[in-house]
Amino acid sequence: MLALVSAMAEELASVIDSLSEVTVHEFGRRQFHSGRFHGVEVVAVFSRYGKVAAAATVTQLLASFPVDRLIFGGVAGGVQPGLAIGDIVVATDLIQHDMDASPLFPRYEVPLLGKARFATDPTLRAGLVAAAKMFAEHDLATQVAHAERAFFKMTVPRVVEGMVASGDKFFASSAGVRDLRERLPGVCCVEMEGAAVAQVCDEYGVPFAVVRTISDSADENSVHDFPRFAREIARHYSRGVLLRYLNLGSLPP
Ligand code: ADE
Repeated sequence: MLALVSAMAEELASVIDSLSEVTVHEFGRRQFHSGRFHGVEVVAVFSRYGKVAAAATVTQLLASFPVDRLIFGGVAGGVQPGLAIGDIVVATDLIQHDMDASPLFPRYEVPLLGKARFATDPTLRAGLVAAAKMFAEHDLATQVAHAERAFFKMTVPRVVEGMVASGDKFFASSAGVRDLRERLPGVCCVEMEGAAVAQVCDEYGVPFAVVRTISDSADENSVHDFPRFAREIARHYSRGVLLRYLNLGSLPP
């Protein structure tokens, strides 16, 4: 069964609204909704915020449901120059930017796993890239109000593949972004859960992919941009990309 995990309650609600044959299972203050999303058997859950919460959610998910692939979504702060609010990042791999067990292990490496970067599944990723492009080109303008798109100066969003960095920190300063870019030059965007989800999926051998919409630029404006984007826009992306993904599911990537 396909697991749909979101770091945003608003996003997940729009997916749950579209489920049929729903059963709600509750573990550890988390509600897991199993059912059918346009005919596909899914289980949907809100990760909660931060690495520990997300890891606990996904561990429970994989222990309780027969999940054979997992898609994780949410919003992120853009770090790569040129990324605009509304652009979509599909992760090639994920890193925990706050992992540092040096000098025992190289900085960023997850102890016992011998690696710092967790690669997403290439097939799931290719499907999400195609779906995100279809959504950006064909659906976005009809689903998000013109006034909201104008507020964020959004045109047709770009779909970018790259590295996502996660950690227990909300980035809200240009200096913080500069520091991260110097430490990890390849990073596209920052959020607070993806690399934890990636680590759990890696350890349990479950293929996964991550798609994040840029809600802010991780700078001084992020404290205003992030909540407004999350409230007004993000849910249209997740539901729209998912619908496109499922329609494309049988086509070769
Ligand atoms: N998720 C969305 N925007 C973010 C930011 N600026 N920092 C961390 N996580 C985020």
